[in-house]
Amino acid sequence: MYLDGRIPMIELSGVEKRFVTPSGDVEALRGVDLRIGSQEIFGIIGKSGAGKSTLARCINLLERPTAGRVTVGGRELTALGPRALREARREIGMVFQHFNVLSSRTVFRNVALPLELAGWRPQQIAARVTEVLAFVDLLEQRDRYPAQLSGGQKQRVGIARALASRPSVLLCDEATSALDPQTTASILALLKRINREFGLTILVITHEMGVVSSLCDRIAVIEDGLVVEQGPVAELFARPQSATTRDFVAALKGMGDVTRTLRVAR
Ligand SMILES: Nc1ncnc2c1ncn2[C@@H]1O[C@H](COP(=O)(O)OP(=O)(O)O)[C@@H](O)[C@H]1O
Ligand SMILES: [Mg+2]
Repeated sequence: MYLDGRIPMIELSGVEKRFVTPSGDVEALRGVDLRIGSQEIFGIIGKSGAGKSTLARCINLLERPTAGRVTVGGRELTALGPRALREARREIGMVFQHFNVLSSRTVFRNVALPLELAGWRPQQIAARVTEVLAFVDLLEQRDRYPAQLSGGQKQRVGIARALASRPSVLLCDEATSALDPQTTASILALLKRINREFGLTILVITHEMGVVSSLCDRIAVIEDGLVVEQGPVAELFARPQSATTRDFVAALKGMGDVTRTLRVAR
């Protein structure tokens, strides 16, 4: 119903990822199936170590799945050679928890970087960077260096850089986890605007229920490398099935109490 009979923008089938380490194998993903519709804001939640970041990195093939298929925008990425894959990856922007901005580059040149790498001409780069910086409200900071920016501004640089090459998908891995609640709210509002104005499909990965509850159409809950439950946010809230979901819902409801307890404990 959410896919509306459309081709999904992101489709994972049977995705597995095993890490081989000196201390043994880690099964980070154990057969993940997901279909995310075009222009959806889809949330992935789970506790630390559940496999969320691995899943994000398997979607743009920064990690190659050990098994399974990844299809984005109708193209099966797991079947592409290196050159075609580089091309296809431009359809997918990624935003990180710690912003990953380069301290030696100004705001402008951070956002220009992916376009330089893609071989755009300087004039086209200047026009596009100006456009995205205006959109995230950072034009005045264009010549500053990251050290001169707040956390929220750094994340807006990260978002502008992810948007620069006009992707159709945005992957946000804990994009607000290093930010205070007020800054988090402004970044979430920005993501909503990106979805509405540009029609991007957005995948929001987080361990914070509050983030997905205000933003997402549907969510999937991941536990120990498996999707244990998925559906519209309101439905999962009303009838949580898995232990992880019940814990998340309880934590969200009890937030006020927890804060009080902490204050008393101190
Ligand atoms: N490069 C890696 N090498 C070995 N193990 C890894 C690697 N990346 C992740 N893992 C393991 O895979 C599991 C899932 O990790 P991750 O995807 O980072 O979880 P999450 O983002 O939900 O916290 C964890 O047990 C983690 O230790
Ligand atoms: Mg992670």
